[in-house]
Amino acid sequence: MQIFSQPFHRVALIFLSVLFAVGLNACTLFESISILHSDDVYQERFVHSPDGIGKFYMGREIAQVMGHEGAAWLERPSRMTSEAPQKAITDLNFKPTDIVADIGAGTGYFTFRISPLVPEGKVFSVDVQPEMLELMNFVIDEENITNIETVLGEIDNPNLPKSTVDITLLVDAYHEFEYPQEMMQGIVQALKPGGRVVLLEYRQENPLIMIKGLHKMSEKQVKKEMQAVGLVWQETKDILPQQHLMIFTKPETLT
Ligand SMILES: C[S@@+](CC[C@H](N)C(=O)[O-])C[C@H]1O[C@@H](n2cnc3c(N)ncnc32)[C@H](O)[C@@H]1O
Repeated sequence: MQIFSQPFHRVALIFLSVLFAVGLNACTLFESISILHSDDVYQERFVHSPDGIGKFYMGREIAQVMGHEGAAWLERPSRMTSEAPQKAITDLNFKPTDIVADIGAGTGYFTFRISPLVPEGKVFSVDVQPEMLELMNFVIDEENITNIETVLGEIDNPNLPKSTVDITLLVDAYHEFEYPQEMMQGIVQALKPGGRVVLLEYRQENPLIMIKGLHKMSEKQVKKEMQAVGLVWQETKDILPQQHLMIFTKPETLT
């Protein structure tokens, strides 16, 4: 270009290029010195989002767990319209005999809407916060519900019996798992061959969805992480106002 034939412009261009290269290297250097610990699966970094736990899995920072103090938010009346949970439940076509696992069940928002649909089956409602189980157990006792079993999970284990579950639901929970790979391996073990895993996650691709970044997930990232534990992607349904509804299956060959 003619503009760069002037000596001054040439010097300016070289100066900017050097600045850019130094900046890039500084970023890479900063990122690498911020790594506190790294193994084959996870990485811990000193520099991270205030909404995350500083632990990274497959390029994604894991979000902080939503504490039981926020339980009322899960039950907010506006959720019926802003998230249309009934649409997701109807779409999943539960059979009366289905054994369902609601992992990261929280207050049981989905559990209590699914249990009447599986009268000859049951719902395992798993959470790591005993306070969440107490809230669910209160309602179970009050309403004499006989087909819900609450389960205290561990951060790396859903504590479910092997090969018993037809469908596992992870609603707005997976991105908070501190040990996502171990949790998913436990979930896969608990599934019957051919069983389904369904994830509902806020769509990260859409910047207009007003949820903190680490509490959203892209379709690409979810696929990558489910594939890592042997699950097979079946379908992504964008029928919900804000969340991806993603369906995976456990191949018959996976134990
Ligand atoms: C944002 S809440 C969503 C609750 C519920 N699924 C809903 O949509 O109303 C996420 C829940 O996941 C739970 N959780 C986080 N890590 C977990 C783990 N490893 N195993 C089971 N539950 C977990 C948290 O305790 C919290 O109750």
